[in-house]
Amino acid sequence: ASTLGAAAAQSGRYFGAAISTSHLGEAAYVNTWTAEHNGVTPENEMKWATVEPNRNQFNFGPGEQIVSQGRSKGMKIRGHTLVWHGQLAGWVSGLDASNLRSAMQNHIAQVAGHWKGQLYAWDVVNEAFEENGTRRQSVFQQKLGDGYIEEAFRAARTADPNAKLCYNDYNTDGVNAKSTGIYNMVRDFKSRGVPIDCVGFQSHLSSSSNLSSYQSNLQRFADLGVDVQITELDVGGSGSGQANVYRQVTQACKAVARCTGITVWGVTDKYSWRSGDTPLLFDGNYGKKQAYTAVLDVLNGG
Ligand code: G3I
Repeated sequence: ASTLGAAAAQSGRYFGAAISTSHLGEAAYVNTWTAEHNGVTPENEMKWATVEPNRNQFNFGPGEQIVSQGRSKGMKIRGHTLVWHGQLAGWVSGLDASNLRSAMQNHIAQVAGHWKGQLYAWDVVNEAFEENGTRRQSVFQQKLGDGYIEEAFRAARTADPNAKLCYNDYNTDGVNAKSTGIYNMVRDFKSRGVPIDCVGFQSHLSSSSNLSSYQSNLQRFADLGVDVQITELDVGGSGSGQANVYRQVTQACKAVARCTGITVWGVTDKYSWRSGDTPLLFDGNYGKKQAYTAVLDVLNGG
């Protein structure tokens, strides 16, 4: 196949990109997104600060722009994200525990409910762990305690029973203290019937990233009975070093039956969040990079 999406589809997977509404007026951006990818994640448009800037006042417009274009192309859409300490609306952090709990429940019910039946997956909870494998001391953790993640997943299942419900995090690119903390949580959730379907590995990497246990880490999660996805892939660097890391990640996903898809965190180096870096598959002029060819070759069986 001659595009990333079509090549991934040969093995039943998707290849997505994070998309920002700010660039939807640029033809080359939209064309590269829709021609090459069969999946999409709104880069910022479904985050709490955007979607519920004031309590119980919802702003679905920006997310809707991306969802409607993605649906019209038959893309798999990943919702990102329901519960996260980042890009959180200011009013949330001032609430006492009981108000915070009901605000979180209401946010999930309204937001996941709004797109019910339209999304492939939700990042229900994002970045809740520290590097040492303990819980991050977010406002949710501090006021609601360990149970908030489980509460969020249960609320998301009620709001959209058909979306795959994922936990998503970064620096989980191998067997390490952080990924093991998450692994233990997922194992506990599965054993107690807490609804979790998938784990997202953001994979913000560089050419020098050590990926020696990347695949075995994906596999140990899959063995718990969840799907795994690469959710925010980008690789700092250039040329063959960068291409090699992209190749290894794509190979690892293909080697794990329950790795259902890969999403890169942007389309073009022109608009990466890693400013000054060139971490994506298309250069600033939408030219295909060496990394692009490496990924396409692996998806095609090379
Ligand atoms: O929209 C405002 C604009 O009105 C304002 O003038 C401008 C001035 O700074 O800021 C704009 O908001 C920015 C927003 O992106 C939209 O462009 C924020 O400052 C900026 O902080 C924000 O960055 C986003 C970042 O998350 C925030 O944490 C990046 O675009 C986004 O790529 C990044 O994505 C995260 C994932 O959600 C979770 N995992 C890590 C990943 C990378 O940090």
